[in-house]
Amino acid sequence: MGLSFIFKKLALVAVTLTLTATSVAAQTQPGCESSCGNISIPYPFGTGDGCNISSNFFITCNTTFNPPKAFLTTSYIEILDISLDGYLRISESIGYDCYDKVGRTSYFDLWLMLSKFPISHTRNKFTAIGCDTYAHVEDYLGDTYSTGCLTFCDNITNVVKGSCSGIGCCQTAIPKGVRSYHVTFNSSNNHSNVLSFNPCSYGFVVEDGAYNFSISDLYDENFSDKEFPMILDWTVGNQTCAEAKMDQENYACKENSDCIDPENGPGYLCKCLDGFQGNPYLSQGCQDINECDTLKPCNGPCNNAPGSYNCSCPDGFEGDGLRNGTGCSPKVVMPHHQSFSVAVVALGIGVGVLFSLLCLSWVYMGLRQRKLTAEKSENRQQNGGMLMREQLPKRAEMLTT
Ligand SMILES: *[C@@H]1O[C@H](CO)[C@@H](O)[C@H](O)[C@H]1NC(C)=O
Ligand SMILES: *[C@@H]1O[C@H](CO)[C@@H](O)[C@H](O)[C@H]1NC(C)=O
Ligand SMILES: *[C@@H]1O[C@H](CO)[C@@H](O)[C@H](O)[C@H]1NC(C)=O
Ligand SMILES: *[C@@H]1O[C@H](CO)[C@@H](O)[C@H](O)[C@H]1NC(C)=O
Ligand SMILES: *[C@@H]1O[C@H](CO)[C@@H](O)[C@H](O)[C@H]1NC(C)=O
Ligand SMILES: *[C@@H]1O[C@H](CO)[C@@H](O)[C@H](O)[C@H]1NC(C)=O
Ligand SMILES: *[C@@H]1O[C@H](CO)[C@@H](O)[C@H](O)[C@H]1NC(C)=O
Ligand SMILES: *[C@@H]1O[C@H](CO)[C@@H](O)[C@H](O)[C@H]1NC(C)=O
Ligand SMILES: *[C@@H]1O[C@H](CO)[C@@H](O)[C@H](O)[C@H]1NC(C)=O
Ligand SMILES: *[C@@H]1O[C@H](CO)[C@@H](O)[C@H](O)[C@H]1NC(C)=O
Ligand SMILES: *[C@@H]1O[C@H](CO)[C@@H](O)[C@H](O)[C@H]1NC(C)=O
Repeated sequence: MGLSFIFKKLALVAVTLTLTATSVAAQTQPGCESSCGNISIPYPFGTGDGCNISSNFFITCNTTFNPPKAFLTTSYIEILDISLDGYLRISESIGYDCYDKVGRTSYFDLWLMLSKFPISHTRNKFTAIGCDTYAHVEDYLGDTYSTGCLTFCDNITNVVKGSCSGIGCCQTAIPKGVRSYHVTFNSSNNHSNVLSFNPCSYGFVVEDGAYNFSISDLYDENFSDKEFPMILDWTVGNQTCAEAKMDQENYACKENSDCIDPENGPGYLCKCLDGFQGNPYLSQGCQDINECDTLKPCNGPCNNAPGSYNCSCPDGFEGDGLRNGTGCSPKVVMPHHQSFSVAVVALGIGVGVLFSLLCLSWVYMGLRQRKLTAEKSENRQQNGGMLMREQLPKRAEMLTT
């Protein structure tokens, strides 16, 4: 009895072990919340003590909202998505400047200041909407960059449907490496000529592709309540990879990962090596991918190894074993000279067949020739020269084809 109990317990331990081994590797430090509502929060980000790599990566999870909302550090910047590829999707409001017959009715002074993470210059566009609109975007202090676009239309019928092409809607790029913006507006006539279909100018920074212009946005009275996704680039530290590797104690990239110098620095990113997946910022975070299960690359037996795999062929078969490659085919077994190549054998057979064919055609032609001469003399005997002249060329033609 005692023995069977131990056996059961061992079996149980074995089951739990395989279960933990096959489950997805953790994305957080031990004891940390892995999500806020339905937003997952992978390390180096974290919501609690000891869960974030530095104070810039602290996430406030406010559970008074349903579902709970995640905010960057202790700010009001709402996070929609965190990607370990080095970007952060946040939700941003839009700036506006509205008029009626009397003058300005409302104005929202939109600005954003980030302590560490730059606004992605490749994944965002500054977008302005309006028919009497100069929209400017500049850094908060107004001294490192200032850009913007303008859009005019005197009749809504001129606006191109669904296209942000400069009439009713315009877009421009955000400069590289900026961490703040401030949106301001101006107009030629305070929208007085276009009030019937466009009382407001709007300006916002939006993830490229996440906003499609619609003509109704020009007169939608609730457009100013909208929020749009925007992308921030994040990095760890403030050194380059080369500098970070020298400071092993604080180097953020763990086993089986490599360091990447991002375009929008300073700082660096970590990435699992090829053949590994998971969270490169955590110890044991990058786990081997079992290519044999995920890719099913082999025809025959597949051997998984850390970071790679190889295919083999069963005994008596040869080839690279790859479904994409030569696969496995039966070995050609030669009695003595194993090295006697298949090509030589094929060549020998080919020459033999060709020679026999040649002989056969010789024999055939010889027989035909004899039959022809026999017929010729027969014809001469029966019909004289006339028929012979008609028939000869035909026969000759048949023989040569
Ligand atoms: C989170 O939930 C909200 C509403 O319940 C939904 O709109 C959103 O798509 C969800 N996000 C993810 C990443 O699942
Ligand atoms: C995580 O963020 C909090 C809040 O900003 C900060 O007090 C803490 O020091 C950070 N953790 C680390 C390891 O830097
Ligand atoms: C959560 O959000 C509510 C409503 O905006 C606010 O009153 C509260 O202070 C927030 N809680 C935390 C912990 O930030
Ligand atoms: C706009 O254009 C349409 C058709 O071209 C015209 O009928 C209409 O009067 C114009 N509206 C204004 C305000 O000019
Ligand atoms: C706004 O535009 C008006 C007229 O076009 C111009 O006089 C004024 O200086 C502009 N204001 C700003 C702040 O650019
Ligand atoms: C536009 O409105 C502003 C503020 O309401 C006013 O100061 C300015 O004179 C107006 N400009 C025009 C051209 O009506
Ligand atoms: C914008 O339009 C494109 C193409 O029509 C579509 O694929 C995309 O989902 C649209 N985006 C939004 C936010 O509506
Ligand atoms: C704008 O929002 C208000 C309040 O949320 C709503 O009553 C109204 O119907 C909305 N207007 C449009 C055109 O959707
Ligand atoms: C880089 O970060 C370290 C620690 O966070 C800080 O002490 C140092 O001043 C930073 N250096 C620069 C150039 O920002
Ligand atoms: C096979 O080749 C195709 C195209 O060359 C490639 O997309 C696919 O990933 C390959 N499959 C394997 C298992 O290597
Ligand atoms: C293929 O993988 C197995 C197991 O990892 C290893 O023993 C073998 O040497 C590998 N063969 C080749 C040709 O790399």
